[in-house]
Amino acid sequence: MHWTNKQDQALRERAFRVIPGGMYGHLSAAMLPEGYPQFFKRGKGSRLWDYDDNEYIDYMCAWGPNLLGYGNPIIAEAVRAQQEEGDVLNGPGEVLIEAAELFVSLVTHAAWAMFCKNGTDATTMAMVIARAHTGRRVILVADGAYHGSDPWCVPALASTGTLPEDRASIVYYKYNDPNSLAEAFKANKGEVAAVFATPFRHETFLDQEEPDLEYALTARRMCDDTGALLIIDEVRAGFRIARDCSWSTLGIQPDLSCWGKCFANGQPISAVLGSDHVRSAAGSIFVTGSFWFAAVPMAATVATLKIIRDTDYLERLINSGNVLRIGLEKQAATHGFAIKQSGPAQMPQILFQDDPGFQLGFAWVTECIKRGVYLHPYHNMFLSAAHTPEDIKHTLEVTDIAFSALKKNRAIGDGSPHLTDAAMK
Ligand SMILES: Cc1ncc(COP(=O)(O)O)c(C=O)c1O
Repeated sequence: MHWTNKQDQALRERAFRVIPGGMYGHLSAAMLPEGYPQFFKRGKGSRLWDYDDNEYIDYMCAWGPNLLGYGNPIIAEAVRAQQEEGDVLNGPGEVLIEAAELFVSLVTHAAWAMFCKNGTDATTMAMVIARAHTGRRVILVADGAYHGSDPWCVPALASTGTLPEDRASIVYYKYNDPNSLAEAFKANKGEVAAVFATPFRHETFLDQEEPDLEYALTARRMCDDTGALLIIDEVRAGFRIARDCSWSTLGIQPDLSCWGKCFANGQPISAVLGSDHVRSAAGSIFVTGSFWFAAVPMAATVATLKIIRDTDYLERLINSGNVLRIGLEKQAATHGFAIKQSGPAQMPQILFQDDPGFQLGFAWVTECIKRGVYLHPYHNMFLSAAHTPEDIKHTLEVTDIAFSALKKNRAIGDGSPHLTDAAMK
């Protein structure tokens, strides 16, 4: 493949004139190594194509939504059929109830569901429900955890235009630290409405951490003791860990759970699920949106949840992740690199040891991208059920060449590894 990014560059220049900064938000390629495409023309299965017609085996899965493959034919047919009937109407279709029934039947703690559009809608709605339920104001959030882009939760480094008052009732604790959580409860006695926790620690730039059982049990116990609600934010990890809430693997059920990204395989929809004792508070708040009740994403939800319930999609994506992880570990050792692969294998974070400026990581992923494998240098990635054994095999061939090139460049010894034309041959 002869790799070029001329078309992408041209699109970036055009975008710069009419889009602030040329692109914004989490899909901006501004912080990615040079050469990463910003714009994508097409996706099918596990593959993406950019505007230079480069084909990639994709390990970001649209940053989560692609669970079963881009353009999955079963979901596509459900979308087409519903589109013919109607999408945004004066009220929801029966499909709203069907989607809620299916969701509730899958997720153990849930007795009801409310649908919205983005993950941020779901986390914000869960916060409001918790305050309505308890009549309290303080929300405990793990420091550094991402729960969306509203002023109360947007990461501090992107918080221009927000006010300290927006976070006046947000109190931070340390993920996986039961003492820090207990301290936060103590310091806000009688005021805590809810604790937010992600299924595992999946922060950008850092190694991921599995949830510590003591921390998770403390969160559940302190909520029970004080009447606060435990909210698990499943927006990123949901249905990639379990066919239930992710902490069901620890034997722990939340009171509210927030879902988004993948449960309609890419159609725009998110949800809050709740336990029965929170039902009346959920019914008391006013939340809505012009597109929240669109029937097409709900039809996609029904089709996706049935696949989640009835197929081995989860075992397949875990298996693909494990094969990739084992292969990469061996390759790195053979080539003399120390890599850190953290988090669940099906949502891998791959960092190099002693690489604080991500130079090694940037150089390695750039070698991969130019050979048709789309990896991310500092954010957790996502596998989908569409990744085939052949995809993983081909990926490992590419990563092996990328490690070789990295070693060669390092041997050139100019301090920071960089790409050479020779390494591309
Ligand atoms: C854990 C978590 N919560 C909430 C969100 C916000 O979701 P959205 O971008 O759909 O608003 C995200 C998005 O990445 C997320 O990872």
